Amino acid sequence: MYATLLTSIDNGILTITINRPDKMNALNQQVFADLNHVLENEVIKPEVRSVILTGAGPKAFVAGADISEFSSLDQQAATSLSISGQDTFFKIENNAKPIVAAVNGFALGGGCELAMACHFRIASSNAKFGQPEVNLGLVPGYGGTQRLVQLIGKGKALELLMSAQMLSAADALSWGLVNYVVEPEALLPKAIEILTLINTKAPLAVAGCITAANAAMDESKNGYLLEANLFGAAFNTADRIEGTTAFLEKRAAKFEGK
Ligand code: COA
Repeated sequence: MYATLLTSIDNGILTITINRPDKMNALNQQVFADLNHVLENEVIKPEVRSVILTGAGPKAFVAGADISEFSSLDQQAATSLSISGQDTFFKIENNAKPIVAAVNGFALGGGCELAMACHFRIASSNAKFGQPEVNLGLVPGYGGTQRLVQLIGKGKALELLMSAQMLSAADALSWGLVNYVVEPEALLPKAIEILTLINTKAPLAVAGCITAANAAMDESKNGYLLEANLFGAAFNTADRIEGTTAFLEKRAAKFEGK
């Protein structure tokens, strides 16, 4: 039981719902504590194969960091808050299990940053994306300046960052920020459909894809070398033997994540 999250698991898919609908699911420190706990204690469970992250209620995925917690911060505390929020989002981005954002409304500020830390995003038709921090005299602090550039390119990212304008779901789709836009009632079913497919694949290979794709965004890493090493390591797995054998025997593979 979490103060700010709802969790449920069905068919290997853990759904995490940020549950502060009266505050547009804004990210206060309790949400971060709960997210860290669920990432460290629930997502790692063997029965969890993949994760959906969404927001409670019909209006918001997450409308940002909780602005009411900002008034007491000085420069040092704000820097620490940013680094600690970034750490939580790195746990999502670098997670070995696929984590998909099902964006069911406003994804603003930290909400847009949280969605971008997920491995990919699906939006409902009423979703709106934006980084409105400049309206508050702030810059994004949970990785938004970095991941927005990575996902939609520097020119479009800077326009959004500097103007604070909101992007509709349709524009988010055409700008490449989300993979699909569906009607609100189809949002979770679409996420479940995609993750159900991914859950039939070899878990260690799926994790390797996440690691390698993340390296493409990290200048400190040699992504090609990392890919070669992951490719080589895959040959040492039982799942590789099962996958190639099943193909040759013209049957579905049964992967065990070993
Ligand atoms: N932090 C704290 N509280 C927030 C919040 C945030 N980021 N976003 C919304 N809320 C709260 C509101 O204060 C309000 O609380 P109240 O009922 O106790 O007054 C409640 O959520 C509902 O929000 P409200 O603004 O009344 O809803 P709306 O439908 O008129 O507008 C938004 C929705 C999302 C456009 C608007 O809430 C908003 O602009 N939020 C801030 C977005 C932002 O700047 N995020 C970046 C933060 S760094």
